[in-house]
Amino acid sequence: MSLRIPFYKPEIDKTALFSMWNEAIDNGWLTTGPLTRKLEQKLAEFLRCEEIVCVSSATAGLQIALRLLGLKPGSRVALSVNTFVSAFEVILNENLIPVLIDIDGESLNMNLNQLEKFSANELACVMAVPFAGMPLPMKQLQEICLKNNWPLILDNAHALEATYQNKPVQSFCDMAVYSFYATKNLTSAEGGAIYCKDPQMAARARTMALHGLSRESWQRYSGGGWRYDVAEFGFKANLTDIHSAIALAQVDSLKDKMERRKILWSLYCENLRDIPEIKFQSCNDKFIESARHLFIIQVSSKERDHVVRCLNENGIGTSLHFIPLHLFSAIRSNFAWKEGDFPVVEQYFAGCLSLPFYPQLLESELKEITSIIRNAVVG
Ligand SMILES: Cc1ncc(COP(=O)(O)O)c(C=O)c1O
Repeated sequence: MSLRIPFYKPEIDKTALFSMWNEAIDNGWLTTGPLTRKLEQKLAEFLRCEEIVCVSSATAGLQIALRLLGLKPGSRVALSVNTFVSAFEVILNENLIPVLIDIDGESLNMNLNQLEKFSANELACVMAVPFAGMPLPMKQLQEICLKNNWPLILDNAHALEATYQNKPVQSFCDMAVYSFYATKNLTSAEGGAIYCKDPQMAARARTMALHGLSRESWQRYSGGGWRYDVAEFGFKANLTDIHSAIALAQVDSLKDKMERRKILWSLYCENLRDIPEIKFQSCNDKFIESARHLFIIQVSSKERDHVVRCLNENGIGTSLHFIPLHLFSAIRSNFAWKEGDFPVVEQYFAGCLSLPFYPQLLESELKEITSIIRNAVVG
């Protein structure tokens, strides 16, 4: 059955997109070139920072970020148990050891009280994720990391627009990584970006994203000689101009889209707030401004699948973020974690549900969604 109201709908201005694609074809670049540079400049402006390096995915960006730190093999990296598996995978791929941390039951982010229990030499790095777009208390997180000398990488796949104390969240970190995957607030179909506080790290991230080549091919082919060096090995993780064009066709509307997200967010809350069985992601830190990437509700574990069924029967898509990492069979068969080890995330997971949430969602559609949920929960 095709869904009347899908979980996610991309919103891309086709006129803007086709004109960007024409540019990419006419100027002779299809892969990384002037459009990717333009996207990087637009992103740096948006994030109020010096430099952004585009890459082929957030996963690639996270791996490059870890590689840049040069951690000793076997070093331990802390991450939330409530995140996408890619963070865990890149830690393993860099010969590092993942250390899972349970979540705070309200914000659904890594529980910082648990992080603080580690002594400086028990961890080598922290990889935090503002889950669903909701920032962590960035100042506190930064202070914990500084005190222990742990570099802080923000997996900012959900939180491009998020701020803390009115500053983009990456300003509290050593590095931040963004995703432009198809369902993200800004998409290039597949893609990502890296922010590095240290400009030398940013320069290394740039070369590492393309095999460690000291000069990218579009610079060489645009004149100035054929010579290049490989000073350190890297990855094939560059973002193409064709993909950058997709993001460029949306990047100027990020602020307007956020306004729309705020309206829809409030409407969801208004329509569901009086149902005591329903709980929302929340945080009482007044400095937090969420990127409102996902709208998630929690109901009881008995009701969740019933709510999903009622929505699906009415042609409405849903999703679920995330299956806790320690419940995946690949992780269970290689590590000692077991069910019960992370009680807060397990309780959250048993009743969570991500609802359709994107700027094009109509108020009438949202009301239909909430009334189906109301009927399913209250009867
Ligand atoms: C929190 C988080 N981190 C990382 C990723 C990986 O992003 P990408 O698909 O761009 O590699 C995702 C993807 O959904 C994600 O949700």
